[in-house]
Amino acid sequence: MESTLLSVAYLGAGVLFILSLGGLSTQESAQRGNRYGIIGMIIALAATLLHEEIGSYVGSANGAMAATIGVGSVIGFILAQRVKMTEMPELVAILHSFVGLAAVLVGFSSFLAPIETLEGSAHTIHSIEIYIDIVIGALTFTGSVVAWVKLRGKLFGKWISGKALILPGRHLLNIGMLVAMLAIAVPVVGSATPDAMAFGVSAQLWLVVSAVIAGVLGIHLVLSIGGADMPVVVSLLNSYSGWTASAAGFMLSNNLLIITGALVGSSGAILSYIMCKAMNRSIWNVVFGNFGAAASTGPATQVDGEMVEIETDDLVQELKDAKEVIIVPGYGMAVAQAQRSVDTFTRLLKKSGKNVRFAIHPVAGRLPGHMNVLLAEAGVSYDIVLEMDEINDDFPETDVVLVIGANDIVNPSAQTDPNSPIAGMPVLEAWKATRTVVFKRGRGKGYAGVVNPLFYDDNTRMFFGDALASMDKLNAQLNQ
Ligand code: TAP
Repeated sequence: MESTLLSVAYLGAGVLFILSLGGLSTQESAQRGNRYGIIGMIIALAATLLHEEIGSYVGSANGAMAATIGVGSVIGFILAQRVKMTEMPELVAILHSFVGLAAVLVGFSSFLAPIETLEGSAHTIHSIEIYIDIVIGALTFTGSVVAWVKLRGKLFGKWISGKALILPGRHLLNIGMLVAMLAIAVPVVGSATPDAMAFGVSAQLWLVVSAVIAGVLGIHLVLSIGGADMPVVVSLLNSYSGWTASAAGFMLSNNLLIITGALVGSSGAILSYIMCKAMNRSIWNVVFGNFGAAASTGPATQVDGEMVEIETDDLVQELKDAKEVIIVPGYGMAVAQAQRSVDTFTRLLKKSGKNVRFAIHPVAGRLPGHMNVLLAEAGVSYDIVLEMDEINDDFPETDVVLVIGANDIVNPSAQTDPNSPIAGMPVLEAWKATRTVVFKRGRGKGYAGVVNPLFYDDNTRMFFGDALASMDKLNAQLNQ
């Protein structure tokens, strides 16, 4: 494919990616947005693979590249088929780490095989691009691997705590590493060749040292962040992976990589900001790696009282008497794959004249929009699915709230206990309803690992069991 045609194809793919992001901003247009993204990616890949500079796929180097792409595609296809919706954040985290690693490798190869025609300021700018690409890439790589481990909760079969690692003098450590990387940039960017010596060390070795420091910084930043705040970290790493891809685009003079990287980087940054606002956190605390840590140092919340169970018949009766019902779905609904039963339940209640609505917390489940995706897949109509800000004031006028597999997002200690790891996080005020019924399997804690006083509240009843089995039991009775 000729260069002009390639540029047109890249431009078309870039426009499709922008349309894709626009489409993903509302539930109604999300499927269309996904289709634009898929078509854009097919065009981008095809144009790159057919580009004249790549030449034939028969020669040894290109043959190896074709084989690598083939193997990678098969692995990606199998993984996409197998991964569960609840494991998506882990998959996203590990994919970010690949972007970071690729950026580091491309950066080193560009540094070791410099473009000989570049001189003066053009050479300096190219070296800066390489340096930024390698540093952000290394930070993204190690930070994403740590995020992957923390989200999985185990490594080689061993349990890994989601608690924040709070080292003494951690801010000084971070600042020290940042200053060191800035200082090392001088001999690397100023070197005419990779072998040029500065302070008795070659430029390429300085670059390795800087990549290692960036890698350690990535590990430390993510380890310093507590479990419940991981959603924002994953979104921030997503943004970093975009910026590193964009820097690689400048380095390789590839317009599509520049555009795509900038789109991922800026949309990831905007999403991180929105999530920070929703969770009442400061974006700078996330960037500097101690998000939520200061709040979690005191003793854990103690709760007196007992959980009171409710039988199916009694719950059905309460539902029959109710006019206003709110459903709060959470991670447990995703684990149980109960969304279709929840949809059937909603239709049954609506048929008998109840006003049923859903309250969606911004970090319910394990990925942004997790609950919206599940409910949309089950066919729940969009107009009864409301965001936290739209519905939180309505709980006091609600007869029955059904909390289906949710925990942290309805935990009142976020408002009452300044020592809680989730202190300050806005929550759905389910306890303000006349009756709150919690669907869960047992006494398991939520992702943040904290006790939930809501379960011991006088107005709360526990409906124990797997969420799918519980919903099916209710539907069977309501159908009679
Ligand atoms: P969680 O606080 O994690 O609580 C889920 C509850 O579901 C658990 O208490 C569990 O109790 C119950 N459960 C699990 N499987 C179940 C099943 N099959 N049937 C019925 N119940 C089941 O969930 P949440 O309230 O949705 O809050 C989300 C948490 O995840 C927040 O802390 C958030 O910060 C974090 N997080 C969110 C994201 C994003 S972007 N959304 C990403 C990473 C982390 P039992 O074990 O007793 O059943």
